[in-house]
This record gives sequence, C-alpha cells and structure tokens, in this order.
Amino acid sequence: MNSTAAASVSPSVFELSPATHLTGTVEVPGDKSMSHRSIMFGSIAQGVTEVTGFLEGEDSLHTLEAFQAMGVQIERHGQGHVVLHGRGPEALSAPADAIYLGNSGTGMRLLTGLLCGVNIPAVIRGDSSLSGRPMRRIVDPLVSMGARLSTEADGTPPLTLLKNSSMLNAIEYTCPMASAQVKSAVLLAGLHANGRTVVHEPAVTRDHTERMLRGFGVEVQVEGLTASIIGGQSLKATSLTVPGDISSAAFFLVGAAMSPGSEITVSGVGMNPTRTGVIDILKLMGANIAVKNERTSGGEPVADLQIVGTQLQGIEVPENLVSLAIDEFPILFVAAASATGKTVITGAEELRVKETDRIQVMAEGLRAMGGEIEDKPDGAVITGKRLQGGVADSCGDHRTAMSFAMASLIADGPVRVLDCANVNTSFPGFASVATAAGLNIQVEN
Ligand code: S3P
Repeated sequence: MNSTAAASVSPSVFELSPATHLTGTVEVPGDKSMSHRSIMFGSIAQGVTEVTGFLEGEDSLHTLEAFQAMGVQIERHGQGHVVLHGRGPEALSAPADAIYLGNSGTGMRLLTGLLCGVNIPAVIRGDSSLSGRPMRRIVDPLVSMGARLSTEADGTPPLTLLKNSSMLNAIEYTCPMASAQVKSAVLLAGLHANGRTVVHEPAVTRDHTERMLRGFGVEVQVEGLTASIIGGQSLKATSLTVPGDISSAAFFLVGAAMSPGSEITVSGVGMNPTRTGVIDILKLMGANIAVKNERTSGGEPVADLQIVGTQLQGIEVPENLVSLAIDEFPILFVAAASATGKTVITGAEELRVKETDRIQVMAEGLRAMGGEIEDKPDGAVITGKRLQGGVADSCGDHRTAMSFAMASLIADGPVRVLDCANVNTSFPGFASVATAAGLNIQVEN
C-alpha cells in the first residue's frame, strides 16, 4: 500500500455545530469519472495528452499511479494539470506488483476491462470497502469475450488477470443492471477485440466513456440505450479540461436549496445530461436553481448554478431519474429529511452495492440524528422534520460523510460524523470549502 492509500485508512471525524444557511461562490474539484478516464485514455493514446482540472483525489491518483507502474510517463504539474506521454497500448508493461486502487470501483472495473483487451496480466486489489464489492458483473462478460480472469469465490476482489492466448472476441451484451462501469468495462475490452462489441443498457447511465473516446478520435456508435465500438481503433492524444464534479457540487446544491436564507453560486459544474438528475429531483422538490453561463468544455456541457434556499417539499422520486443521480442519493436523503411531508425513493437497489450500503448507512445515520426514515430493499420512505443532531457513522464512505455534514444545516444540536478520511477520495479540501460557505465544521484526525 502506498502513502496516499495509507492516508485513507486514518480515522477522521467531522464535528459540526448547527449552521443556518450557505452563501458565496463555491468551486468544486474536477469530475472523478472523467479524471479516471482521462488517465486511462491518455495512457494508451499515441502522443502527449494534457489534462487540466484533473481531480487530485485519492481515487483518481490511484489510477494515475497504476499507469505509471505499467511504464507510462505521467507528469503532475499541480493544481489538476497532468501531462501524459502515451506510446499506445503496446508500450504498456505488466506491473511488477499488484495494482492497488484504494476505494475506487470505477478504477477497478474500467481498468480491468481495458487490461483484458490489451492482454496485460495483473493482480488488482483495493481497500476493505472495494474488497467487498461485486465484480462478477464485469467478469462474466469479459470471460465470455475470452478473457482469463478470476475473483475470490464470492465474486469480490482481488482480481487476477492472466494472459489470454489470443485476441478477445467482440460480444453483444445486455447489462442486467444500470451501470456505466459495466458498460465501460465491456466497451474498453471491445476497443481491442475482434469485431464490433455491442452493449445494451436497461436505463441511461453516464456516457463519459463514449464521449471521451470520441475526443481521442475513436468511433463509438450510440443509439438509444445501445453503445457499440469496433475493435482495433487507436487513440490519438488530445487536450482536455475536466469540469467541476456535479456529484461534489450536489452537497452544496442541496445544502443551500434546503436552507432558507442561503444564496450560493457553484461555478464551472459539469452538466452532462446523464448526470443532472439531482437538479431535476431538487426542482421537483421546489428548489430554486438557475442554470447560468452555459458553455462547453472538453466535449462536455458546463454551467454555473445559482441556488436560493427555500422549504423543500417531499415527492415520489421518478424512477427514470435514479440512474441519472445515482451518486447523489446520500445527499438527496438529507434533502428529503428537510422537506415537508414524505419522500419516496424506489428502484434504487444499486445504492446497496456502492462504497457502502448507502440505504442502510443513510437510514442509520439520519435516525441517529432524529430523522424519520424507513429503509426498503430498493430505496426509502423519508418523512421530513427538524433533526436534533447526534452521532452519524459514515462507515468510511465519502458521500455519506459529506451528506451528514450538510445535515448540520437542518439540525438543532451538534452533529458528529465518524470515519470521514475517505472524503479525500473525491473532495480533498471539502471541510474548508464548506466552512467558507457557512458550515461550522472542525476536523479531528
Ligand atoms: C461511475 C459509475 C457509477 C457511479 C460511480 C462512477 C463511472 O457506478 O456510481 O461513482 O465513473 O462510471 P455504477 O456503474 O456501478 O453505477
């Protein structure tokens, strides 16, 4: 385990006294999904790829270190500026040691698809959370393409990739669950397979793989819920700017939206339509959100978001918005806890296999703070009321930790959030950004 990974296991606690509202302009770090992909694609492209806005969080840095361990020259110039000297996939060498990807499911699933395609043997492992996450969802389609890889008996990491005897064969695959990681793992294996690989999805999921591959000169076909790619295409180096992560912005969108007196702008937020479900859901709850200064950057739409606080109302969350807001449910649970009446969430069973079981962790944490929440196998029913405060255990999940911190805006007493070190996986500096915006937060290490 390297030093960044070691930092992620140190315990850290957020102590919050009640806050009333958020103000000012907030900037959030670069998009995590795009940051991972920028390293993977820049590493197998031909030529020099310049990335700005890269998320220097633990998850995406593990991906960067993995490609350095496979011989790619990658320079870090600080403040999200990364330069990759790609020499094509042939130049990758098998890593001398196991690849350690920390907390990152995206890193593990996408890298596995890519390495199976380029026939690099490796052992890929993660931290205790990642070591419990399901990998058969990628192993099954990859094995049917001819890849030789295995997991533990229960389908969890580490993953062991052996050398294939020949090139992978393209497949037509129907994903059983809405997952951009599964879609991407199969498409990235398909990038170096014989023939056209076709992936059908049950619902729309984030399309950063498809968009970014196009930016690297690869042809990717998308028709409705089907994406496909012909194997044997090469990537040409490019330059790209990663926009602010809407999943990190979401904590401030909800924090401000649910507390009257708030007025904030979150600037430079990625507005890819496969990621904006959180805005649609908040608007259905009565939030005042204005989208300003819309522009395009790195093939992705970007905007500044202005939010004015109000009293939110409970809703039935439309199921078609679930996959478009999948990472925002922890903070949406907090929005629901602040709202008048009941909020009903269904069709969100994937939340149970994220960095933690997010339905359970959010239900237990909100209850510990005085919230009224009934957890269901595929969601929850949350009745809004003032929270009294208390101790919430994030269970080492970055998104539940930041969500409980924002709950101090709707609590009458202090809030203590346990096990927050993994906030650094996606949002280094969260506590200072949140303090500047109006939370009363102290970090205890
Ligand atoms: C991601 C896809 C989603 C999301 C994760 C990032 C990606 O996971 O939850 O944080 O970058 O492709 P699933 O594919 O498991 O839904």
